[in-house]
Amino acid sequence: MSEGEQRSGADGAGDDRSGDLTELAKRRGFFLQSAGAYGGVSGFYTFGPNGAALKDNVEDSWRDRFTVREGNMEIDAPTVMPEPVFEASGHLDGFDDMLVECPECGESHRADHVVEDNTDYEEAEGLGPERVGEIIAEYELVCPTCGTGLAGQAIEDFNLMFETTIGPGSSSPGYLRPETAQGIFVEFPQLKEYARNQLPFGVTQIGRAYRNEISPRKSLLRVREFTQAELELFVDPERDEGPDLESVEDVVAPFYGIDQQEADDGDPLEITVGEAHERGLVADPWIAYYLGVAAEWYDSIGVDMDRFRFRQHLSGERAHYAADCWDAEGEVDGDWIELAGFAYRSDYDLSKHDEYSDDDFTVFRQYDEPVTVERPTVDPDMSYLGPEFGGAAGDVADALADLAESDPDAFREAEADADGEGTVTVEVDGERHDVPVSQTGFAVEEVTESGEHFLPHVVEPSLGIDRALYTVLDHCYREDEVDGEERTFLELPAEVAPTTVGVFPLMDRDGLGERAREVAADLRERGLSVTYDDSGAIGRRYRRQDEVGTPFCVTVDYATIGEARDDDEGEPGTVTVRERDTTAQRRIPIEDLADTLEALRDGDLTFADL
Ligand code: GAP
Repeated sequence: MSEGEQRSGADGAGDDRSGDLTELAKRRGFFLQSAGAYGGVSGFYTFGPNGAALKDNVEDSWRDRFTVREGNMEIDAPTVMPEPVFEASGHLDGFDDMLVECPECGESHRADHVVEDNTDYEEAEGLGPERVGEIIAEYELVCPTCGTGLAGQAIEDFNLMFETTIGPGSSSPGYLRPETAQGIFVEFPQLKEYARNQLPFGVTQIGRAYRNEISPRKSLLRVREFTQAELELFVDPERDEGPDLESVEDVVAPFYGIDQQEADDGDPLEITVGEAHERGLVADPWIAYYLGVAAEWYDSIGVDMDRFRFRQHLSGERAHYAADCWDAEGEVDGDWIELAGFAYRSDYDLSKHDEYSDDDFTVFRQYDEPVTVERPTVDPDMSYLGPEFGGAAGDVADALADLAESDPDAFREAEADADGEGTVTVEVDGERHDVPVSQTGFAVEEVTESGEHFLPHVVEPSLGIDRALYTVLDHCYREDEVDGEERTFLELPAEVAPTTVGVFPLMDRDGLGERAREVAADLRERGLSVTYDDSGAIGRRYRRQDEVGTPFCVTVDYATIGEARDDDEGEPGTVTVRERDTTAQRRIPIEDLADTLEALRDGDLTFADL
């Protein structure tokens, strides 16, 4: 054996370890505040080599679960979009946070956070600026930076979007997208063609989103540039057959509904997804389905399910577009952090883009049987409208067509009036025009229609990757003792760990280094993520890998090269494999190494079975 390790009691959950974690994250290359050489900027982080690998693995795992296994399409849209997109989406007018500025030091703070952090009010955002201002005064709340009283300070709306200009000059404003979702919605007219107009279909995207947060805080948890993984599922609200709820109905999770939150002693209900839906707690079957899928996924990437819950949005808290919304929340340092939102967005987004753009965001729904309907039409006499209305004649003709569709009785009543000499009235650019009905060419045709156009509804699971990463690191952080020495390790699932295997020569001499490098190269060839380390004592090398969550280490020693001095050192041609969590070690033949490690990584084999 290369090392005999004795381990005692791992400590995981609950403590405030944000300092330890941030220190480990920087030292071991997970993440660090960016541009530190220039003093750093709040809310921007660089992922180091281990953080970038962990992030890639978490994103791949999300892609596998939410795109590949669900049969959805993935797209990749630009992060800068022109202003009309956000006029239509409502972000330009409504994507605001409440800002309060300190009269003494000038520091800006989120007014609702000042309230939440210093009173028993939760979710103060839903209370509105006026009430938040009153609470600040009632409780005599002070500036978190300098302690000056904030009572009486104006609470202002601050739009969170980063503005830019597209091209030189300022004639074409653009914005960094505040959510990846809009990149999917604006392409719907084309996406529905890719889906052959068959509903339901889902479109996913993993990408950066930007919010000019008033006070970024808690490391990766509230930043100004972050990664979202979003799925927009488009459904026909009348004909939707719903999801395969059975596949997740037995998943158990804590559900913290509105009633439980409003009850004095209300705790989340620990029930199955199936029960949550049957009881009407999670009314929409698709939302229930994605809550089940997400609970399994968060568990698989290392979130501690004892520090996880689903919480329903209170009515004042829901976004402008959401008919119902649940959050996935993880407990970090005693606070519940929103990891993801699951919203029923109805047809809000598609109706807005349909209204504001020139494109068609509807889908055609075939009737079971063709139906015969009356269709009012007009065929105005332009030789009358031209001289009568001049340059407005074309618009008057269009307005007549709209009126015939929306109010055909106006024409019928005009025909009945004054022996057919009555008039209909249309408005063009605020001016009313009376047109004799006899000049409109009004008629009602009978047509047979095979279907109708409608706007699909949207169900959206929207996950934040950065918050997931921080939560996973926090929940997987462990301290124990090995051989009488304190050890820190990350109990990351092998599927997402930045590196799967550390390969070490017992010593870098007598050909052990060369053999270990060959082993590392062979394992890389097999697609395993491998790190090679020959510096320092073997125990130190184990600790380095433990700290970055490498689940397995392989040591090449004299037995491996057939030069063991006695049988205790192992059979010729074998290596030692060591498991991170238990520090247990096994010897296995080198020819079985790659298969064994692959099976361990993929969960097809446990270390205890070796
Ligand atoms: N398309 C819906 C949407 O964007 P959201 O609740 O505003 O919904 C979704 O954002 C997720 O994005 C959140 O649950 C969170 O994980 C992440 N997120 C939002 N703002 C963030 C920020 N400033 N820093 C880190 N993650 C953030």
